[in-house]
Amino acid sequence: MLLNRLDGYEELSEDEDDEEDDVKESGAQADDETAPELVEVSAEQAASILATTEAEAEEANPGVTNARYLDSNLNIQEDKILDSDQNGVMMEWESDIMKKSAVALLPRPGLKVLNIGHGMGIVDGFFQEREPSEHHIIEAHADVVAEMKKRGWDSKPGVTIHEGRWQDILPGLVGEGVTFDAIYYDTFAESYADFRGFFSEQVIGLLEQEGGKWGFFNGMGADRQISYDVYQKVAEMDLFEAGFDVDWEDIPVPKLDGEWKGVKRAYWVVDNYRLPLCRFMD
Ligand SMILES: C[S@@+](CC[C@H](N)C(=O)[O-])C[C@H]1O[C@@H](n2cnc3c(N)ncnc32)[C@H](O)[C@@H]1O
Repeated sequence: MLLNRLDGYEELSEDEDDEEDDVKESGAQADDETAPELVEVSAEQAASILATTEAEAEEANPGVTNARYLDSNLNIQEDKILDSDQNGVMMEWESDIMKKSAVALLPRPGLKVLNIGHGMGIVDGFFQEREPSEHHIIEAHADVVAEMKKRGWDSKPGVTIHEGRWQDILPGLVGEGVTFDAIYYDTFAESYADFRGFFSEQVIGLLEQEGGKWGFFNGMGADRQISYDVYQKVAEMDLFEAGFDVDWEDIPVPKLDGEWKGVKRAYWVVDNYRLPLCRFMD
C-alpha cells in the first residue's frame, strides 16, 4: 500500500478491502513472512499520514517541481540558498551531516567519488579534504554552476563538473563504463519516484561492485517524526528490492530555532538524522 501510495494510489477491490478489515478486527497477524514490517502504525494509518504530509507540503510549496526550480533565480547567501519562493534549498546547519556522510563514503584518499547536487558545496568541500583521485560533480542549476566556477571549483584537484540534470548526464557516464567507489545524492524539488529511479536504475551501472558505497540526504518526511519513520521503512524496502543493504547511523540534530528566519517552511523538525550508508548485497 505504501509503495502504491508513493507512486500514485492503486485502489483495492471491495473484497480485498474487506479481507484486510477482517484481519485487523480479529487482531490476527498476517502470516505472509514476506509482509514488510511497519513501524508502530498500520499500513493504512501510515498511508494516510504520508498523504497528509504530502498535501501539506504541496500547500506550503505549491508547484515546486524540479523544472520550475531549475528555471527560477536563486538567492545564494553565505549560510543558505533560497529559491525564488524562499524555500530552503540548502542550509549551513546541515554541515555536520555532510561531513559525516563524506567520511563514511570516502574512508581513505585516492578513491573516485561522484556527487549529485552541489548546492553550497559543503559535502564537496569535505570530499576534497579526503583527497579523492577523481571527484565528479553533477549540478543542474545555472546559478549554482556559475557560483561554483566563481569559487574555483572547476580547477580543484580531480574535479570534473557535469552541467545538467543527473537524468541526462548519468546514462552517458554509464555508457562510457565510468565507475565510482562512492556516490552521494542530494538534489532539490525531486520526488521519491525520481530518487527510486536513481538507485534502482542508475547506481547499479556506476558503483564499484567491490567495496563501492553510496548515500543520500535522508530528509524525506523530516517535518514530522512519524513520516520520517515511515519514509525510512519505505526506502528500506525499495533499497532491498533494488539489491542494496543499508546501515543507518543516528546523528542528533541541534535545536534549530533562528535558522528558519526568512525561510518559507521549516523542513526539518525531527531530533535525529538517520545517515544511510548503502552497498550492494552480498
Ligand atoms: C540540497 S542542494 C545540495 C547540497 C549539497 N549536498 C551541499 O553539501 O551543499 C541540492 C542541489 O541539487 C541540485 N539539483 C536539483 N535537481 C537536480 C538534478 N535533477 N540534477 C542535478 N542537480 C540537481 C540543486 O540545484 C542544488 O544545487
